[in-house]
Amino acid sequence: MNIPMVDLKIQFETLRDDIEKGFRQVLETTHFILGPQGRSLEEEVAAYCGVKHAVGVASGTDALHLALRAAGIGPGDEVITPAFTFIATAEAISYTGAVPVFVDIDPHTFNIDPELIEAAITPSTRAILPVHLFGQPADLEPIEALCRKHGLKLIEDCAQSFGADYRGRKTGAFGEFGCFSFFPSKNLGCYGDGGMVVTNDDALAQSVRVLANHGSRQRYHHSVIGYNSRLDELQAVVLRAKLPHIDTYNSARRRNASLYDERLKGCDVRPPVQDGKGTHVFHQYTLLSTRRDALHKALGDAGIASAVYYPIPLHRQEVYRERFAHVSLPITERVATQVLSLPMYPELTGEMIDRICDVIRKA
Ligand SMILES: Cc1ncc(COP(=O)(O)O)c(C=O)c1O
Repeated sequence: MNIPMVDLKIQFETLRDDIEKGFRQVLETTHFILGPQGRSLEEEVAAYCGVKHAVGVASGTDALHLALRAAGIGPGDEVITPAFTFIATAEAISYTGAVPVFVDIDPHTFNIDPELIEAAITPSTRAILPVHLFGQPADLEPIEALCRKHGLKLIEDCAQSFGADYRGRKTGAFGEFGCFSFFPSKNLGCYGDGGMVVTNDDALAQSVRVLANHGSRQRYHHSVIGYNSRLDELQAVVLRAKLPHIDTYNSARRRNASLYDERLKGCDVRPPVQDGKGTHVFHQYTLLSTRRDALHKALGDAGIASAVYYPIPLHRQEVYRERFAHVSLPITERVATQVLSLPMYPELTGEMIDRICDVIRKA
């Protein structure tokens, strides 16, 4: 039996009736965009995250881009962010004309190291954009303090952390903006692209809404150059079917992570470290190994998927490497050679985890 990184089919089977019923309603009303499903989803996500507003957009990348635009970030500005993340985090900054300023990570959590941020702040810095990587919240308390001290905006990349909390509050509820991705494999995923911006600020929420809908407050009246970035009704149906179960899904991920931790004891790998400041929702279960590539191959030979998130830090990507040739991020660069993510989804069974860990032990 092969074991994939994620299996979206099992979850679909358990939600099939709700999703098919919702799809039929949308098809029958032919209200595909900016309709009641999206509006209800926005209310439900805002309530879940404990924030005033949620605005559906077309992807997590757009959520970041529109949040940065609504925060007034543009050419000449700098935004502090990690280089150990998916490219979209920095792409969104670059779209605005601002420059990403990459700061190294904590070797235990893989998240931006708050102690290194202050040295990167310049008169051009406008925002800090931490990523809650692999589902573990970044250390937000010291980051919030830096934002207050230096008058910076806090924009959270919550693409991988739906449902995670930090000191009792959901990720996304801390900054001016929290930005979510609903890419299918995310903890809360739809069946295409989708994203959401959450905020407590009425005016900022309205700005994102206007930007996402062609710069329009009123039909065929356009006050700014906006975008076509809306979450459609069919995606909202899928997300509304899954949202009531998200805590159960995340608990199952945490249970699977504990099983991995237990079964990997004594193996020459470093399992993920939980910093105890919140709830890690294990979008990925990512370990460190100095023999990463051999391990990846041994798992593959046994029919078990594993993946390297992320092999090339952003400051070494072709698109950025000339510009950031002078930047050195030793932890990021080392970790990128050692990380390996194992299969992780709520429906993964104890037997599967046993098999995966047996292969790792032998390798
Ligand atoms: C950390 C991070 N930020 C941003 C994104 C972008 O989200 P999307 O693929 O929905 O555009 C992703 C996921 O793909 C991500 O993992």
